[in-house]
Amino acid sequence: MKVGIDKMGFYVPKFYLDMEDLAHARGVEVDKYKIGIGQHQTALLSPLEDIVTMAIEAAYDIIQDDKDCIDTILLATESAVDFSKSAGNYVHKMLGLGTHVRILEVKQACYAATGALQLACDYVRIQPDKKVLVLSSDVAWYGFDTPGEATQGAGAIALLVSVNPRLAEVHKGTFVTEDLADFYRPTYSEIPIVDGKLSIRCYTSMLQQVDPGIDYVYTCFHLPFASMADKANKALQIPLSKEKVDITKRFGMMIGNIYNGSLFLSLLSVLVYAKEELSNQTIGMYSYGSGAIGEFFSVTIQDGFESVVNRRQLIEKIEHRQAVSFSSYEELMTLFASKERLENFVPTMKYLSDYNRFVIAKIDRGNRIYQAL
Ligand code: CAA
Repeated sequence: MKVGIDKMGFYVPKFYLDMEDLAHARGVEVDKYKIGIGQHQTALLSPLEDIVTMAIEAAYDIIQDDKDCIDTILLATESAVDFSKSAGNYVHKMLGLGTHVRILEVKQACYAATGALQLACDYVRIQPDKKVLVLSSDVAWYGFDTPGEATQGAGAIALLVSVNPRLAEVHKGTFVTEDLADFYRPTYSEIPIVDGKLSIRCYTSMLQQVDPGIDYVYTCFHLPFASMADKANKALQIPLSKEKVDITKRFGMMIGNIYNGSLFLSLLSVLVYAKEELSNQTIGMYSYGSGAIGEFFSVTIQDGFESVVNRRQLIEKIEHRQAVSFSSYEELMTLFASKERLENFVPTMKYLSDYNRFVIAKIDRGNRIYQAL
């Protein structure tokens, strides 16, 4: 029985900062960010949004025909807004799903969405009449004037998992786990504690331990920053051509790190920009979560996948965004990082536009109220 991704949804915030503006403000050569790190833009959350609104936006269109058979939501994030309540409860309500749904928030750095996808595949294997909604929603925030600042981003991915998937059959992976201190965010800290160089070595070393050495038409990578694809590709036993690697990172370079969703953003890039016929082709997928787990799995793109992948709409999502100034970036991220916002908050309508379908209405003693527009 085939199991895998029936449909995939994606959300990126409307605002972004051009890396040239960040480089000028930080006194860094633009080429370091655009060529060395490979980032051209970084997506920025507006005050009306959070991981919940992004997850709702990513999932909304793909679940409309399947509301009755979705009985599980697995929400992967490392940007949790609550230590206890799952962000999935808010998402579930705003998506208008029934009370028969089981919800879990899952955490394993940037790997959690892959782990959730594999568990969801096993779940529908034994309950083929059910579908599972796997969500990833994250804000990568390292703090002002830190080395990680050039590798930030925000966005969400939704994967509807079922038997006889229309988009991609998911195959079981090979994974490796170890206790590493490359990147972690203790509960006292708003930003992660990162040893950047160590994290790159851990990412690559785990890739080498799980790489099956198969000549896939493409291999997609977890992309903490776009040029990580080049480093990862060099570490493969059978590397891709430069032209193909560039295709795997096209969305990532315009959005930045979206943590759990980054690997799937890389897959979307391939679905949108690949020059080859992808039907019945198998694509390698390398997932890495600091702390750490690495998993290599593969997906086989299904015949007729074009019926569930709207290439034009995906490109428009990236192209129709709006650049903001460096001072607006400072304003937006200062607000994002303020602890007060987690307790009581009514967002300014200054950033309201017809781009958002769901926004935060208010936060009241930590409880979040959302509004469909
Ligand atoms: N023109 C072209 N290239 C230039 C340049 C210029 N003028 N100036 C510098 N460069 C190059 C450097 O040579 C370097 O290239 P290589 O990596 O190929 O050597 C690249 O630009 C970056 O320069 P630095 O290494 O000096 O950059 P940095 O020390 O300031 O920080 C970073 C880079 C470590 C990625 C940092 O941004 C960081 O810590 N980011 C967060 C952690 C991270 O993303 N880790 C990745 C693996 S962990 C993971 O995957 C989980 C996750 O999601 C976080």
